[in-house]
Amino acid sequence: MIILGIETSCDDTGVAIVEVSGKRPIFKILSNVVSSQIKVHQKYGGVVPNLAAREHLKNIEPCLQEALKTINYKPEQIDLIAVTIGPGLIPSLLIGVHFAKSLAYRFNKPIVGVNHLEGHIIAALAAINPKSQILNPKLFPAIALVVSGGHTQLVLVTPQKSPAANRGASYKIIGETRDDAAGECFDKTAKLLGLGYPGGPAIAVEAAKNNKQRTMNSINLPRPMIDQKNYDFSFSGLKTAVLYTIKNNEQRTANSKFVREVCAEAQQAIIDVLINKTLRAAKEYKAKTIVLAGGVAANKELRKQLAMNIEQRTMNSKFLIPDLKLCTDNAAMIAMTGYFKTCLPTGRYKSSKPNTSWKNIKANANLRLV
Ligand code: KG4
Ligand code: ZN
Repeated sequence: MIILGIETSCDDTGVAIVEVSGKRPIFKILSNVVSSQIKVHQKYGGVVPNLAAREHLKNIEPCLQEALKTINYKPEQIDLIAVTIGPGLIPSLLIGVHFAKSLAYRFNKPIVGVNHLEGHIIAALAAINPKSQILNPKLFPAIALVVSGGHTQLVLVTPQKSPAANRGASYKIIGETRDDAAGECFDKTAKLLGLGYPGGPAIAVEAAKNNKQRTMNSINLPRPMIDQKNYDFSFSGLKTAVLYTIKNNEQRTANSKFVREVCAEAQQAIIDVLINKTLRAAKEYKAKTIVLAGGVAANKELRKQLAMNIEQRTMNSKFLIPDLKLCTDNAAMIAMTGYFKTCLPTGRYKSSKPNTSWKNIKANANLRLV
């Protein structure tokens, strides 16, 4: 079975073609094209929704052509179209959704709408290479930490109850940010320090330089809500603390040591809160698997420290993280999720008459995981 994935929820235009075979099932990513808009948004220090939509419109057709051309495929060979319908920026989502609907209509293909955050989780849970895990019942219950530019959520993932043969999953959000997302805190900190957009990778580079030197860090930032007995997060206070640290040290902002110290401390503050809450949730829900997903999951220090903590606390949970290029936004994760939403492990559609007409697909900027 060949699935075409389409992703335009924020500022990356993604088109991927994924082959699904066998009962397990095995996924093979045949092509995974991502057109980044970093250069367009960089000068604004963040994503400008209308500019993002304009870029998606310009790039989506060439991305499709490239995805098909690299593997010498024709649209007629596609069996299913999977498209991100939310959550995300509505001007961006509409471009991908309408493009996917037009393809479904033009080539008479079934189409399924996918939740972007489910895509991030499935990127970690689904089989993407021979060494990775299949979505099997032994992985559940799982606790997924979904950390991106727009979301920070702790999600309880359990196997979907019906139909029994289906290996899809059900989701319950057990905690989420009350204000800003972790990725946004990375991005704003970088903006305040003049490190450009997107902030996460830039902060990680500066923090790594600082940590290498192993000198005392003179900056102290708060770990918001770390001791509260719930699974919610708040990063707006941390952002403000970064702002005042910079304002109160104006004479030091040109000093690269100061910049490195702020980056290392801000990154560590975010990591401490994320790890603390995730491990507590994993313990309470007796998680067999801990999943780290979303763009911030590309942060090497977070990956390393979460893995270390799981091992040190001798938790019996498996730790799953997607490959680096499947952490940030891409359409391969959307194609794989589309499979679980539509098909049984045999590759047949769940219902003999799948409700997959293009007429039923709508973008929803505030779509929630269920
Ligand atoms: O999932 P994603 O690609 O897009 C959204 O759905 O938002 O996540 C983007 C976020 C941005 O905030 C970006 O700064 C952050 O992921 N990010 C990182 C790293 N790479 C990307 N944050 C920390 N460290 C990184 N290495
Ligand atoms: Zn994302």
